[in-house]
Amino acid sequence: MRKKVIAGNWKMYKTQAEAAEFLEGFIPHLEDTPDDREVVLCVPFTDLAIMSQSLHGSIIRLGAQNVHWETSGAFTGEIAAPMLTEVGVRYVIIGHSERRQYFGETDETVNLRLKAAQNAGLIPILCVGETKQQRDQGETESLISSQLKAGLVGVDQTNLVIAYEPIWAIGTGDTCESKEANRVIGLIRSQLSNPDVPIQYGGSVKPDNIDEIMAQPEIDGALVGGASLQPASFARIVNYQKV
Ligand code: PGA
Repeated sequence: MRKKVIAGNWKMYKTQAEAAEFLEGFIPHLEDTPDDREVVLCVPFTDLAIMSQSLHGSIIRLGAQNVHWETSGAFTGEIAAPMLTEVGVRYVIIGHSERRQYFGETDETVNLRLKAAQNAGLIPILCVGETKQQRDQGETESLISSQLKAGLVGVDQTNLVIAYEPIWAIGTGDTCESKEANRVIGLIRSQLSNPDVPIQYGGSVKPDNIDEIMAQPEIDGALVGGASLQPASFARIVNYQKV
């Protein structure tokens, strides 16, 4: 059975004090979380070290939101994989649409980052997805195929998570219908050499739609932005009910 991976993406939210407060409220909700699912928190760099200490013994896995392809060097503002693994990071989001849109991330740099993450023993979460305009023009399938083709050159598919995140559904409250997300994720799977890669859905995942999303046969988890910032709401998401 494919692993279910529920990951919070805190983006540029939460100081260390706020992160500690979140954990205090969140960890007690994990007592009965079934062990068929992996719970991940992808947090700002400054939160990593303190969270790594507080997460000892918990089922939560620590994630970062970016990694550079070199192990060190003159790359102002970037972070290297050994800096992440040193503080206990296990997962890293790569190619999120906000990085592609605002920070010039391309399929080529995504590919370099994926390989560097894997070489360091990190599990990358590769994000793909179309804009509203691309969807309206019928380009969803071709766009995602080209993101996968270019992004996955030389990438080990046994150590990988993919997130299908339609850009028009991110932070908008406009969730992609679960059946449509299931269809696109099935298409993504058909292009992989390893059909067991966990593929998440992301985009306005909330406590009131997670059960329906996770009931879809192709969907192996969720990448959750806004609704991962409050302990009760993220707890309801990781403790999704099977319907
Ligand atoms: P959202 O963000 O859940 O706030 O829509 C998802 C994401 O950007 O990963």
